[in-house]
Amino acid sequence: MRLEVDITGKVFKNVAGERHDVLVGINFTLASGEVGVFVGPSGCGKSTMLRILAGLDHQYQGEVLRPAAARIGMVFQEPRLLPWRSVEDNVRLAAPQADEAKLATLFAILELSAHRKHFPGELSLGLARRAALARAFAVDPDFLILDEPLASLDDALAARLREEITTLVGRRATTTILVTHNLEDAIRLGDRLFLLSARPARILHVLPIRTPRAARTETEIKDIRTQLARLNLANI
Ligand SMILES: Nc1ncnc2c1ncn2[C@@H]1O[C@H](COP(=O)(O)OP(=O)(O)OP(=O)(O)O)[C@@H](O)[C@H]1O
Ligand SMILES: [Mg+2]
Repeated sequence: MRLEVDITGKVFKNVAGERHDVLVGINFTLASGEVGVFVGPSGCGKSTMLRILAGLDHQYQGEVLRPAAARIGMVFQEPRLLPWRSVEDNVRLAAPQADEAKLATLFAILELSAHRKHFPGELSLGLARRAALARAFAVDPDFLILDEPLASLDDALAARLREEITTLVGRRATTTILVTHNLEDAIRLGDRLFLLSARPARILHVLPIRTPRAARTETEIKDIRTQLARLNLANI
């Protein structure tokens, strides 16, 4: 799925009627199967942008073009599971077409098999995040939107899930947008890194990573880190 984005303005108004500019210059295109990673200071407007891209917020200036029939999988910054449904039912409700074999594989990959019958209130934040990932992947998305999906997981699990996300995204050439504060995730997962300014967010730098994910060497990853460090990334 190809995605074309040209958001020229997004404004929130507070109760006193004061304008609060959040997005001013967000212009980019993602090719089918491309992974765009967005990095920017807290509060700059990343989650707001994702809601617009997902079609959940239409109150903005500009244009977002994607096929109307595209299936969207979204992991919100807070896991947002239905509290009165089990983990398994949360996933089944989002993806009624998914058969048992597929769900079993997905739960195994995300290390959730023992938690299928648990309710969201019984989960740690890390488990709830994985359940949210399972729900997003179960729909076989054409467009995957991930808002800090690996936050609050321990390093080892985050690294394993990063690998799994890479595999799942590669399997169907899923066009993906990832928001993260973690440069390691950004460099290992992204095809292109977009660095955002403080609010109101605009794209300050775009850094393409041309080597395919699987072929990236540790030296190359370190080089990209150095390049990022040279761009003034304070507060990210
Ligand atoms: N519904 C809303 N009404 C008014 N202001 C809002 C609303 N949602 C977000 N904002 C404001 O818009 C700005 C951007 O918020 P957003 O959640 O998009 O930031 P973010 O980049 O995702 O931050 P973080 O990295 O902390 O998740 C913030 O100043 C926030 O207070
Ligand atoms: Mg956010």
